[in-house]
Amino acid sequence: RVAYVNDEYVSAKDARISIFDRGFLFADAVYEVTAVIGGKLIDFDAHMQRLERSLREIQIPNFWRIEYLRQIHERLIILNDVQEGLIYLQISRGEADRDFAYPPTQTRPTLVLFTQQKSILNASLSAKGLSVIAVEDLRWGRRDIKTVQLLYPSMAKMLARQRGADDAWLCDGDYVTEGTAQNVYIVKNKTLVTRSLSKSILGGITRAAVLKCATGFNIEIAERAFSLAEAKSADEAFSTSATTLVMPVVEIDGCTIGDGLPGPITKNLLTQYIKELV
Ligand code: PDD
Repeated sequence: RVAYVNDEYVSAKDARISIFDRGFLFADAVYEVTAVIGGKLIDFDAHMQRLERSLREIQIPNFWRIEYLRQIHERLIILNDVQEGLIYLQISRGEADRDFAYPPTQTRPTLVLFTQQKSILNASLSAKGLSVIAVEDLRWGRRDIKTVQLLYPSMAKMLARQRGADDAWLCDGDYVTEGTAQNVYIVKNKTLVTRSLSKSILGGITRAAVLKCATGFNIEIAERAFSLAEAKSADEAFSTSATTLVMPVVEIDGCTIGDGLPGPITKNLLTQYIKELV
């Protein structure tokens, strides 16, 4: 397997960065995960536009044009023969003496990419639906920036596993914010509800595409916060992300959602997403 580290294609197992890299010491880094299906990148430009925004928000200079990043992605797909899976890209502020303040002179940001083979299409199409538990959302207040600060979502996912569930939905007070690495939705009386964009959630690329697909359906779309109680009594629930597409959720904290099977609107949105983007 080949990875990319600062202008070089290297064997993934030999790829190295400095112990002084601010990504390692301060989680001072942002990332993107783009799905690959049939050897093709899914919604690539949107992912790179969000990357540019993340970099801007934490003042890491952006030295890379989208076209250049596309070339690296495409080269890695070929080198690693990725038919289905993902490409992970991370940019950190780079290497500097450990200090909370950003380095006074411009460091060279560290750019890293690697690939992972993963079944996406079949896994989504045949999904029976997930069981999730609700966990308090204790992440920081700038969840709109895609930083590599992922310890809390990791803890929440492990807690879910330890309790016999598949994943966790995070709650800010009574209201659901996101999954551990997904945007979340409910359907009630033919209204699709998903939290509106703010600093509380990541603006998912899949979210934007799925909401666009939904405008062609005969349903209402409400972008607003929904409570955990509302979710438990919904007709359908699902989550979205680049690597899980539209994933049904059939149980929340032991409560069965609808009839316990993936709902019709959820399934239609998955089909439409695949039709339009894959
Ligand atoms: N996670 N919310 C959070 C907190 C996320 O980490 C992600 C993506 C999403 C969905 O965004 P998108 O549709 O652009 O993938 C929402 C990626 C997949 C990850 O960390 O692996």
